[in-house]
Amino acid sequence: MPRAIGFDIYGTLVDPLDMNEHLRPLAGDDADAMSATWRQKQLEYTFRRGLMKKYENFGVCTKQALDFAAESFGVSLSDDERTKLIEEYQNLHAFPDVAPGLEKMKANGHRLAAFSNGVEATARMLFTNAGILAHLDEIVSVDDVGTFKPDPAVYEYLAKRFERSIEETWLVSSNPFDVIGAKAVGMNAAWIKRSGNAVFDPWGFEPDIVASDLEELAGTLGS
Ligand code: 2OP
Repeated sequence: MPRAIGFDIYGTLVDPLDMNEHLRPLAGDDADAMSATWRQKQLEYTFRRGLMKKYENFGVCTKQALDFAAESFGVSLSDDERTKLIEEYQNLHAFPDVAPGLEKMKANGHRLAAFSNGVEATARMLFTNAGILAHLDEIVSVDDVGTFKPDPAVYEYLAKRFERSIEETWLVSSNPFDVIGAKAVGMNAAWIKRSGNAVFDPWGFEPDIVASDLEELAGTLGS
């Protein structure tokens, strides 16, 4: 049976740490650490807002996390510099395995959706710029639900958009919190372990598949 598969975006399809190079002129040797703080705070803000029920979309969380990271590293951003960095966030590159991997899964008859904390319009622009929009059948954004991963409601929404049961739906992510969120509600999940030293949280929820990239996943899933 063709599978219905939702793909996380940031860290799975595109690389947020592309921003390291855009931060280097502003933060010098602190660029990599500032970029990591930016990503970590962006996710923390989504977790906190979900729990507090104080939803603001992912773009707001990204902007506020950038301001936190800049202040943390003593980098004063002009409005133009901040605007440019947020625009660059729309130009993150797709990992090289993404287009061929998605193509293989599509050729094997699977239904492929991007499934993200990001708002749909932002995701569409990102995929257009990254040249992978044609490989995806649809874009499912948690913005429609007004909360964030790993709230069970977002995985239930993904299955609803696929018109499948939770048990018949797949989540693919490089982010262990996302894989665990999906498994916790009974969804199938694949962890894309993009770096050899990535650690999976010892919560007792395990991914159904571990693959190093989307081409390996395509081979494991088959048709
Ligand atoms: C996502 O794309 C933030 O990586 C997370 O939903």
